[in-house]
Amino acid sequence: MKALVTGAAGFIGSSLSKRLIADGHTVIGVDSFNDYYSAELKKANLQPLDSSGEFELLQTDLSEAPLDDILQGVDFVFHQAGQPGVRKSWGQDFEGYIKNNIHATQRLLEAARSSKDLKKFVYASSSSIYGNAEKYPTTEMDLPAPRSPYGVTKLAAENLCSLYADNFDVPTVSLRYFTVYGPGQRPDMAFTRFTQAAWKGSPISIYGDGNQIRDFTYIDDVVQANVLAATGETDPGDVFNVAGGDSVTVNEAITIIESASGRKLNVRYTGAVDGDVYRTGGDISRIQSKLGWSPQVRITEGLKSHVEWAREVLR
Ligand code: UGA
Repeated sequence: MKALVTGAAGFIGSSLSKRLIADGHTVIGVDSFNDYYSAELKKANLQPLDSSGEFELLQTDLSEAPLDDILQGVDFVFHQAGQPGVRKSWGQDFEGYIKNNIHATQRLLEAARSSKDLKKFVYASSSSIYGNAEKYPTTEMDLPAPRSPYGVTKLAAENLCSLYADNFDVPTVSLRYFTVYGPGQRPDMAFTRFTQAAWKGSPISIYGDGNQIRDFTYIDDVVQANVLAATGETDPGDVFNVAGGDSVTVNEAITIIESASGRKLNVRYTGAVDGDVYRTGGDISRIQSKLGWSPQVRITEGLKSHVEWAREVLR
């Protein structure tokens, strides 16, 4: 089977590509290597893939790439590319979120609409579409009310997936990821900052009082959800929460990192940041019953791997 992975040089895209190749598939990876974070880190993510012989990299921007050609012969699209970062999406930066989250997805869906070969279109959605949700754990039926411009663009792209499914039967599945972590996590995210700081002895900033709660989800579990979404029985336009099941506060996560690394973190508390939600927590009954997915890695174990990976990277 041939898969197209967008954002293939990123954290989730590269982890998923490795898994698909290990499972015997051919992967076309698309990435624009934009400057949100270092191209060097993205190239390092791709290193194990380059040597596989089953991976082809297309360095191109989805908002202008010839997508009809690229999709020829592709069985599965895993659309992981996007402009990430909840807290950076205000002001002038918003333009990049419109282009890379909404416009790129719309172009890919247009190409998917006329593809003869496509069996599934898996879209990387986000827990940020819920905002401060009306209840916890939050189900897919609860009202989406994003709290950041980023979340607005992720929801818009998810809505595009559903409407291309409704109107043209594009076999889309949206996976709402809840704060994904583990080896390879983006450098701007909390756990990569905290674990690297533990080894370097440098200070970290906690936004707000550290009592904000996240339903952190381990990378291997997210990869598995993608595989099941592609291969399992779904209906066009389906939407699933992909949540790790351990709702912990940022302060509790710090304690786990300190115990896994044996280092005391030098913590500074700064003001809360606009766009951050107070809590996320996903109900996973739907993906459990329809795709047989449930998280396998608990936060203590997952953070241990993250801490070890951070040490390796700094060596
Ligand atoms: C993450 C991803 O960055 C988004 O792309 C994704 O869509 C989102 O999860 C999601 O689940 O929808 P976030 O939860 O903000 O967003 O992830 P982290 O950067 O790991 O932050 C977790 C918490 O730690 C947040 O409350 C944040 O304010 C806090 N934090 C982060 C700090 O206190 N200090 C930092 O240096 C970084």
